[in-house]
Formats: sequence, C-alpha cells, structure tokens
Amino acid sequence: MASIVVFFLSLAAGVATGQPSLLPPSPPPSRACDIPAIYNFGDSNSDTGGIAAAFYPPGPPSGETFFKRPVGRASDGRLIIDFVAEKLGLSYLSAYLDSIKADYTHGANFATGGATIRRVNESWFVNDVSPFSLDIQVEQFNQFKDRTIYLPEDFAKAIYTIDIGQNDIAYCFRTLGVEASRAAIPDIVNQFATSIQQLYGKGARAFWIHNTGPIGCLPVTYAKIHDPPRGYLDKTGCVAGQNVVATEFNKQLKAKVIQLRSDLAGAVLTYVDMYSAKYQLIANAKDQGFNKWSTICCGYHDSDEDVYCGNQGKINGTEVFAGSCKDPTKVISWDGVHYTEAANNWIAIHITDGSFSDPPFSILETCPNHISVS
Ligand SMILES: *[C@@H]1O[C@H](CO)[C@@H](O)[C@H](O)[C@H]1NC(C)=O
Ligand SMILES: *[C@@H]1O[C@H](CO)[C@@H](O)[C@H](O)[C@H]1NC(C)=O
Repeated sequence: MASIVVFFLSLAAGVATGQPSLLPPSPPPSRACDIPAIYNFGDSNSDTGGIAAAFYPPGPPSGETFFKRPVGRASDGRLIIDFVAEKLGLSYLSAYLDSIKADYTHGANFATGGATIRRVNESWFVNDVSPFSLDIQVEQFNQFKDRTIYLPEDFAKAIYTIDIGQNDIAYCFRTLGVEASRAAIPDIVNQFATSIQQLYGKGARAFWIHNTGPIGCLPVTYAKIHDPPRGYLDKTGCVAGQNVVATEFNKQLKAKVIQLRSDLAGAVLTYVDMYSAKYQLIANAKDQGFNKWSTICCGYHDSDEDVYCGNQGKINGTEVFAGSCKDPTKVISWDGVHYTEAANNWIAIHITDGSFSDPPFSILETCPNHISVS
C-alpha cells in the first residue's frame, strides 16, 4: 500500500567542517538595472548556512562538487540562490546567523532549513522545524537594516528574493492529512503577505517570489511507495494528491501577489512559477540529460529503512555510509528532498531569464519603478 511520508526541507545533522567560502562570482553580466544587493528569505531551498550556523552543520559529502567541503547548503554544490547571485554579478550570500567570515556587502540571507511561513507547533527537535519562521526572518532583516549605517540606498535598490512554503504544506500533511490541508492555505498565504508588507514598510521595492515546488515529487517519498492504488501517482510518478495541494497553494499565492501589486505603490513583484520549472525538469529528466527523476544521489531509502545523506546506518542488514553517487551531474535529487547543483543550475537558468515569471522579465530587469532603467 502507498503511504504518505513527508519530509522537511532541512539539513541533516552532521559534523562541522568548515565555513561557506565567498569565492569570486563569474564576471558581472551587463545589467538592465543596478541591483547592489540581495536579501533572501526562505527554507533549505535557499539556505546558504543559516541553520547550519544555528544548529548542526551538515557534514560530507555535502558541498563536494563545487565548494569541495560542506558549506551549510543542502546540496553537493550551489543552490539556485547562488546562481541568482552569480547572474547579478554579486558574491554568494552569507547567512545572517553566521558570525564567522560573514560578508554582507551585497546582501544577506535570512533563509533557514526547515523554515515555515507560519509559526507551527513543532520545533527543530521535533521534525526539524526551524525556529526562524518567515516573520522572524523579517524581524532579523529589520534588525540588520536598523544596525547598518552604510549604503542605505542599497536597501531600496536591492532585490528581495523569497522561496518558502513547502514546509508549511508538509506540516499540514503531517497534522491534518493531505485532504484537509487545503483549508489552511488562506491563512498561510495571508501571513506570507503580511511579511511582504512589512518588508515594503522597511523600504523593499523589488520582490522576486518563488512559488512552491512539486512536493509530491520527492524521491524519498517515492522510494517508499509500493503497489499504489490507481490514481495515487500521476503519469510522472509523483503523488498526485500532494501536488494538488501545492498547486492550490500556488494559485492562492499568485492571486495574493497580484493583490499586493495594487496595494504596494511603486513595488515590483515578480511571481516565479518554480513548481512548473521543477516539474518540467522532473518530467523530462532523460531529455535534459539526467537519470530518472526518482534517483537519489546521496542516501539509502526503502520502505522501512532510511540512511540519510552523510549518515551512517544499516540498510538490508548491512552497515553503510550514505555518501555521494559517482556522478552528481547526472542526478536531479541530491538527498531525496533537495536538488543537486546540476539540477539547481538547470532550474536557475530557466527561471532567471523570465520564462517562468509573471511578468515575464529577466531577473536583470527586475527594477523598482523609481529606479531608472539604463
Ligand atoms: C498550534 O496550537 C495552537 C493551540 O492549540 C492552535 O491554536 C494553533 O492553530 C496551532 N497552529 C498550527 C499552525 O497548527
Ligand atoms: C534492500 O534489499 C531489497 C531486496 O533485495 C532491494 O530491493 C533494495 O533495493 C535494497 N535496498 C537498498 C537501499 O539497497
């Protein structure tokens, strides 16, 4: 029978081995507008070291492909937000919570693995929920801004990127069941809007908002499904009912973003259909040069046993260390929940050019109205 298993987007516990490096980004591209900084909010999809600094950093093999060591990212290398920073000609974002070698010259990252929009009745010690929910991340930004005396104009010209919501949906699945989860969506979306309004109140004008990905397509969930009832999986093999909830969340999120455009004078809000970008990659994995989407690069999972990426454990009675696959560039899923650098790069290329955006502009053209486009 099929079972519903939902995993949080968070970092697995591991060994502390290093700090994120701020390598020089690729040469600055020609830019339509001058975006001096990125302020990012979200969960492990875009956490560049926040939850790792606050709790347990992930150990090897995370980070191995690009950084050559663990750097607090739930991947073998760069995340989408890293590719966004490169595209804007900015250095990789330091986590606000990281007090070691942090560099906030070109923005800061408030995202933490396991973060939700709403505060939920769980904790880091129960299902890996981050205590730094979106409202707290916004509060941290307020403090960051109030205590930063230089370059105040950068806050108005900066781009505010947000990628959060999947953990709220996962929480609802766990506590309410998949069917009943839809009822919680309006409240989650309203709280999201409150955070946007608060950032606007602090001077934020350009928002780049990712909708939530296809939570029904997590390989770690797929690994546990045997003999599913008819209709339980869609034609790709994803859990259809879970994706229905994600799609409903996205529909309400988009309506709210459109509403915010008229409420927040002078703000530019770009809604990015991350769901479709990720689903397109998953459904066309082979054509895009990847193995079957459900392949997990790092970690062992079957119906009742799990050895998460970077951990030691028993599978089929054998002691194993969950290390990396041979060629992560051919695999979409890094650890069954998060994406590999290769997949993140594919997604970043496809979303930053505007082809999944409303309005359909490149991230290089996401200028607040009051800033002239050269
Ligand atoms: C958390 O628990 C309180 C008290 O039972 C309840 O009112 C609230 O709705 C719960 N929050 C969530 C997100 O489940
Ligand atoms: C465990 O053994 C079963 C049965 O031989 C096999 O199908 C499964 O792939 C094994 N699991 C792992 C993670 O190797």
